[in-house]
Amino acid sequence: MARIGIFDSGSGGLSVLREIRKILPDERYIYWSDNAHCPYGEKSPQYIIDRARVISDFMLSKGVSAVVVACNTATAAAISTLRAEYSIPFVGMEPAVKPAATGTKSGVVGVLATAGTLKAPKYLDTRGKYGSHIRIEEQVGRGFVELVENLELEGPHAEAVVRSSLEPLLAAGADTIVLGCTHYPFLLPLMKRMAPSGVNFIDPAPAVARRLKDVLSQNGTDLSDSDPGVELYASGSDESLKKLFTLI
Ligand code: DGL
Repeated sequence: MARIGIFDSGSGGLSVLREIRKILPDERYIYWSDNAHCPYGEKSPQYIIDRARVISDFMLSKGVSAVVVACNTATAAAISTLRAEYSIPFVGMEPAVKPAATGTKSGVVGVLATAGTLKAPKYLDTRGKYGSHIRIEEQVGRGFVELVENLELEGPHAEAVVRSSLEPLLAAGADTIVLGCTHYPFLLPLMKRMAPSGVNFIDPAPAVARRLKDVLSQNGTDLSDSDPGVELYASGSDESLKKLFTLI
């Protein structure tokens, strides 16, 4: 049986859970939304490490075999600490610069992520390694996390918020846009309507799901839990988490 922990600063990690369940449908998932401490995007790495420890202890108490850090910001800040301190595997997220750099035809890639992710050494290393031959334009998705937490996925206000971060990337000629925060895929229908049809948006969640499957099989974890399903927990109110869960 496999019990798998998944956490994010809020509901955004549900976009990762959605992809994981497509290829691992019979497991038991323990999802933690740390929404009492959301957003993580402007918090210090130490603050996020402390939160990640509290959440990982909770996951261990639930008997999980692995934890998915379904948050780019928390991965950048905390995954190396978690891997050093805990004996179970941690699978993380990072902006998909590598496939974007390979796929772009215009030579301009846009990265949408939180401020924390964009200044983290982990992201800067990846950008240096795979993005040196192209132009990378970055934007913080200001207000995106709040839209998703408030379930405001459509409408004039959501459009204005999304447009203000997306437009500069499109104006710079980006034909490939990396969704570097797990909340952002919930705003994808809106973004697709704003962008020219040739623009490709890359969500790393399917690759992370495949990585999790590999890690579980490398560790010899028995798949197919006797009690498959999803348990949802939140450090604040779980109302919007439960509603968003019905949409995935
Ligand atoms: N969902 C998150 C990420 O992938 C964090 C958003 C936030 O709390 O700022 O980066």
